[in-house]
Amino acid sequence: MKKRIAILGSTGSIGKQALEIVRAHPDQLEVEVLTANSNADLLVRQAAEFRPNAVVIADDTCYHQVQQALQGLDIKVFSGRQSLLDIVEMSTIDMVLVALVGFAGLEPTYRAIAARKAVALANKETLVAGGALIMPMVRRANLAFLPVDSEHSAIFQCLAGECAAVEKILLTASGGPFFGCKRADLENVKAEQALKHPNWNMGNKVTIDSATMMNKGLEMIEAHWLFNVAPQQIEIVVQPQSIVHSMVEFADGSVKAQMSLPDMRIPIQYAFSFPYRWNTTYPKLSFSRCATLDFYEPDRQTFECIGLAYKAIERGGNIPCAMNAANESAVSAFLHDKITFLQIAEVVAYVMDKINYAEEASLDNFSHTDALSRLMAKGYIELLERK
Ligand SMILES: NC(=O)c1ccc[n+]([C@@H]2O[C@H](COP(=O)([O-])OP(=O)(O)OC[C@H]3O[C@@H](n4cnc5c(N)ncnc54)[C@H](OP(=O)(O)O)[C@@H]3O)[C@@H](O)[C@H]2O)c1
Repeated sequence: MKKRIAILGSTGSIGKQALEIVRAHPDQLEVEVLTANSNADLLVRQAAEFRPNAVVIADDTCYHQVQQALQGLDIKVFSGRQSLLDIVEMSTIDMVLVALVGFAGLEPTYRAIAARKAVALANKETLVAGGALIMPMVRRANLAFLPVDSEHSAIFQCLAGECAAVEKILLTASGGPFFGCKRADLENVKAEQALKHPNWNMGNKVTIDSATMMNKGLEMIEAHWLFNVAPQQIEIVVQPQSIVHSMVEFADGSVKAQMSLPDMRIPIQYAFSFPYRWNTTYPKLSFSRCATLDFYEPDRQTFECIGLAYKAIERGGNIPCAMNAANESAVSAFLHDKITFLQIAEVVAYVMDKINYAEEASLDNFSHTDALSRLMAKGYIELLERK
């Protein structure tokens, strides 16, 4: 039986790679739903090739373009945020890949779990903002909830077959384009420099998060929720070659690592194929060609976002959600040349400091916190712009 998948965010970096996997495994996978925010052209091309049951374009103004282009192809076309939420409940979907970027991923993930769908989660912001809501639902429903982020897929693979308690998670980081830089080196860096990641080709938001190392902070929180491990047991290690995707240390001192070339198609495919592994034709790791594997401690003075993320998860409640929203606003402001690179962490720290703590793990609380934090960040960014 083919697995029928819905790809939320099919026009993004993860979404496009997921479709490559579908293309390579037509006997195992079938596309049931594709969604995009506003990239109507690409959504139409994807739909024409993969012939899903339905597509959703979140931006209502693109509806007619998509609908007209797909006329006669027997593909249902919907638009708007509500359709994105409703579509995951479609009875013919077996698995939902959440490849949206940002807080926008939380509610569709919530709805997919509530509809008892298996979920492959690329969108790390979902668990950063709403882990306290999502993970109890997943455990109660006993659903497949598979990590796609390469580090979390690595940890998941290291844990397969283990019943021993985890001593420590070693969460690896590439270090990003500014590995080895000090604060003084980063004062005037521009978006185009921050967008040049040495090992991965990803969407803009996650690439800037890698440059500030907020990405590792977000992933630490994601790992905390996924694997039920305390933040103090998660150690960030810089592994500049991006070959070791993360490691797990057990009580007897044994450490298991998952390694491969840096290629997101591997963890995406594993989420689709689990508990099996399918063949690939992609280049494979050659130990004779990659002779060195280096490991370093991260520089927390320069990359302040790491410390902010540990602080956020220690405070708990809505604080990680506020941190995430402030970060999304700050990254967008940096990409639009409104604030400097180092001010990203400053905006995040400001919002975390000013937001009122709220404990409740509910969609309402997290949506309210997200909206309020963005407003607070916007105000502070305007202040920084005037300076
Ligand atoms: N890229 C990677 O290699 C990588 C690796 C690990 C984890 N991740 C995580 O995976 C997630 C996706 O990353 P990405 O790099 O693939 O992002 P991306 O390239 O920016 O793609 C985002 C996708 O989501 C859609 N989208 C954006 N905002 C939306 C909204 N408000 N409502 C509905 N759809 C929306 C976009 O549609 P349009 O194209 O129409 O704008 C696009 O299809 C992120 O959480 C990221 O941290 C990514």
